[in-house]
Amino acid sequence: MCGIVGIVGNKPVAGRLVDALKRLEYRGYDSAGVATIYDGRLERRRAEGKLFNLEKRLDAEPLSGATGIAHTRWATHGVPNEANAHPHFVDGVAVVHNGIIENFSELRDELVADGAVFNSQTDTEVIAHLVARHLREGLDPAEAMLKMLNRVTGAYAMAVMFRDDPGTIIAARSGPPLAVGFGKGETFLGSDAIALAPFTNEITYLVDGDCALITREGATIVDFSGNRVDRPRQLSQATAFMVDKGNHRHFMEKEIYEQPEVISHALSQYVDFATDRVNGMASQIDFASVSSLAISACGTAYLAGLIGKYWFERYARLPVEIDVASEFRYREMPLSPSQAALFISQSGETADTLASLRYCREQGLKIGAVVNVRESTIARESDAVYPIMAGPEIGVASTKAFTCQLAVLAALAIGAGRARDMVSVEEEKALVRHLAEMPRVMSQVLNAVQPQMESLSRELSKCKDVLYLGRGTSFPLAMEGALKLKEISYIHAEGYAAGELKHGPIALIDEEMPVIVIAPHDRFFEKTISNMQEVAARGGRIIFITDEKGAAASKLPTMATIALPHVDEIIAPMIFSLPIQLLAYHTAVFMGTDVDQPRNLAKSVTVE
Ligand code: AGP
Repeated sequence: MCGIVGIVGNKPVAGRLVDALKRLEYRGYDSAGVATIYDGRLERRRAEGKLFNLEKRLDAEPLSGATGIAHTRWATHGVPNEANAHPHFVDGVAVVHNGIIENFSELRDELVADGAVFNSQTDTEVIAHLVARHLREGLDPAEAMLKMLNRVTGAYAMAVMFRDDPGTIIAARSGPPLAVGFGKGETFLGSDAIALAPFTNEITYLVDGDCALITREGATIVDFSGNRVDRPRQLSQATAFMVDKGNHRHFMEKEIYEQPEVISHALSQYVDFATDRVNGMASQIDFASVSSLAISACGTAYLAGLIGKYWFERYARLPVEIDVASEFRYREMPLSPSQAALFISQSGETADTLASLRYCREQGLKIGAVVNVRESTIARESDAVYPIMAGPEIGVASTKAFTCQLAVLAALAIGAGRARDMVSVEEEKALVRHLAEMPRVMSQVLNAVQPQMESLSRELSKCKDVLYLGRGTSFPLAMEGALKLKEISYIHAEGYAAGELKHGPIALIDEEMPVIVIAPHDRFFEKTISNMQEVAARGGRIIFITDEKGAAASKLPTMATIALPHVDEIIAPMIFSLPIQLLAYHTAVFMGTDVDQPRNLAKSVTVE
């Protein structure tokens, strides 16, 4: 999604604003721009494509000024070109905006009828025109902003600068996140704490309906009626050094290899390695008193939830209803206060997931959030927060967040099983010991399978379609493998329940389309072998991801067999994630796609 930064400073800001935008690149964008106020003039530089192009523009035509705003744009309305890039100017008003103004076309028609001339195809430009109109009516900047905010509808975070008031930026939030950072004689604005990390870690998060008047001295926050509101200042967890590739080519590669370390951080929040017991963090929601559990999320987070469903139902005997967040609240499923709901989100800002959370809150459910950003909106609006401790995940394709989500869900399911007397203390200890093995086994697997996955990726990069198959918790993993491959290599891929092969997908089997079978030697193994025989009998080429026992048991011909260590079912999904992540990564590298920022994708989808 788009990124916003702003500074009301006491020294030049243009370079610092662009540096801050670099820390928001992971959100995905296709153009960028910066504007400052200097010597009574608003000036801007904008460029299509990556920030490198904007930096070249600034090198050629530097910007002065100690107050400025900047923006990375992920196009929603209007093609990603310079004319549509933010900031947008109208009569001394400069605007940057993240989100969607839903009533922009009616506002645009009204403004054009009133003589306004539009220079872009964006919805954002109506904001600048409305504010400029209200200034002409004699309102001051704050009044003009509030009047505009009471006209526009939709989801937005925005920052506005005024040529005739160079010591002020006014920001507003109704949806996508926005934070104010407090420095010494300077005040900052950013889409998240990572953008502000080099300037300050003293942060205030705006909430929906907040309008912040920012000056060098600080910020005054009012609601859209102009009433003063107080928001707490907090110390952000994000620090500047985190956003760094180390000696890896891509953030995604770094994050794949960080998993053994961050998994141990995640686990240490929920299990006591000395006693092999699940600790109190897992019982923030009293699972013994809930009748059932609803889970909602998007993308990879949804697939983590799907695996969690197997665990909650198997170990805690707790019925689970799960759906992708964009469908969840429209199904009007019967919900009651006797239920709990879990929302899984790496960013904690995904609009559909947040909307589902609010829907469940209205129905009186107990709300839990499994998130990577503790200060995120989804975390703040939950009764119980389960941080996954993965550290900032910059690569758009989620890897370490996925396995950390699984680790937390596994601990919660075991704790729920214990609370509901479905798991004995001995069983709990055995399961926790398996969880504790993960960092060691993950390190071993990453080093062992890397060369094989890299060479396999050359084969895969020639394919147009790939089918992933799995049973049990390997079925959502098959879908995750397909999602990883398609989102970074742009090869069409889909994940299917292996048992569904005969109900349609078997028609696809030929020598062209590789079939990736994910099958630990578990209770489903023999049935999956039969599916593999059906594929082999039709000339299908199989990439078999199994464990040592599975590799020894199967005599079937394969394109490749990847034999992982045999592990308990409770950690198999995390371990088997590694080869499918590496396979997708190396295929994308081989194909030369933009691995960390794949086309059309954003790291956090903060619009519905
Ligand atoms: C996963 O690789 C994708 N980047 C995407 O599906 C992502 O998982 C989804 O958008 C949900 O994001 P969230 O976890 O931040 O809510």
